[in-house]
This record gives sequence, structure tokens and C-alpha cells, in this order.
Amino acid sequence: MALETRIAPSLLSCDFGDLAGELARAEAAGADWHHVDVMDGHFVPNLTLGPVVVQAIRRRATLPLDVHLMIERPAEWAGRFAEAGADILSFHYEAAREDFEAALETFRSTGCRIGVAVNPDQGVEPLRPYLDRIDLVLVMSVYAGFGGQAFLPEVLPKVRQLREWGFDGDLEMDGGIRDTTARACLEAGCNVLVSGSYLFGAADMEAAIQGLRQEGAPAR
Ligand code: DX5
Ligand code: ZN
Repeated sequence: MALETRIAPSLLSCDFGDLAGELARAEAAGADWHHVDVMDGHFVPNLTLGPVVVQAIRRRATLPLDVHLMIERPAEWAGRFAEAGADILSFHYEAAREDFEAALETFRSTGCRIGVAVNPDQGVEPLRPYLDRIDLVLVMSVYAGFGGQAFLPEVLPKVRQLREWGFDGDLEMDGGIRDTTARACLEAGCNVLVSGSYLFGAADMEAAIQGLRQEGAPAR
């Protein structure tokens, strides 16, 4: 598997009063992607930001924007977030369920790289027929909605399952990722690690990012 390990700091834990400064800090510290959490107050009990802010981030960021939509009726918003500058656009399977295939096609028509996210209690079996049309699977290791929750190791078999089925796209883990939980994710088959409170709270973000990346290094 030649997929590079990518570290995506989650802006949810940044200082939103200094968004441009925080983007620059993450980039200087060696981040690969900016993870942008979009919450609508319905799909999850929290509200964050919309396309206007994604557009502002796009103007200041030089790295790819990994936009994680935690919203109901995601297909209605796909175009707006793509136009705002998302590079990778992920929506939740649970939010699209009965119209999943149509939603996936709407997302694919945006030209973004497309991810499908699953909460801890959502299995990945329903995604299996569509894996050749999905660029990234985002496996949540906490229930979507808030930063700073504890990692749920019971989601790891979903990652192994996807790799066993031959999924060779990006596999991203999101929630509770830190020095003590990163290795298990990478060993299971993830290649993208999202980390919010741990990285933005680190005294030395560069060392913390390097540490997460090293967890997947072959010589250890
Ligand atoms: C939670 C978000 C995560 C969150 C992760 O719903 O999707 O991206 O920011 O935060 P930590 O790393 O603090 O668990
Ligand atoms: Zn996220």
C-alpha cells in the first residue's frame, strides 16, 4: 500500500479569532491538509461554519481543504462547498441513507475528491457496492459533533474490513487522535489522521505532527 500518511489538523479546535494565523501555524508545523468541520445544528447538536467561512479559509490557506460535512440533506450543499474551495468533500452516509447513490453522484459531479463518513455505530457494509466511486472513507472514532472526546477503538475493525475488501483510497480516522491512539489507526489501515484538540493544544505542534506521522513509520 503506497498511500502516504497525511496529518489533517481539525480547525474546530483552533482560535477562530485568529483564523489566518492558525492556518499559517498548522502549515508551518507540517500539516498536510486542513480539516474543516461543518455542523448544522440538526445532524449534530452543534453549529460551526458555512461556505462563506470555507471561502475565507481558502483565500488564506495553501494546503488542500478537507471539508467534513456533518449536515442533513448534504447533496443540497455540495455545489456551494465545492465553489467555496473544498478539495476533499465528505458527507455522512447516515445523512443521505435512502438517497445515497444519488447524493454520491451529486457530490461526484462537483469535481472535488469525495469522501463518505460514518459515525461509530454505522457499519461500512452499505458502502461496499460504491467503493470504486469513493475517494475517501472517513471513519469517525467519536460521535460527530464535538472536539475533545475519547477515541473509540471498537471502530478499528471497519478500517481493516475496508482494506480487506480491497479499498485502496484514502482512509481517514477522525476523533480522539493523539500520540496514544494514532498507531492503532495506521496499523489497521488508515493513512489520514485528523486531530483537533491534541494538535492545536500542543505546546509544539510541529513535534506533535511529526510524532503522529512517525507512528506509521515502518522502522519502529
Ligand atoms: C468531531 C469532528 C472532529 C473533531 C476532532 O465531530 O469531526 O474533526 O474536530 O477533534 P478531536 O481531535 O479533538 O477529537
Ligand atoms: Zn471532522
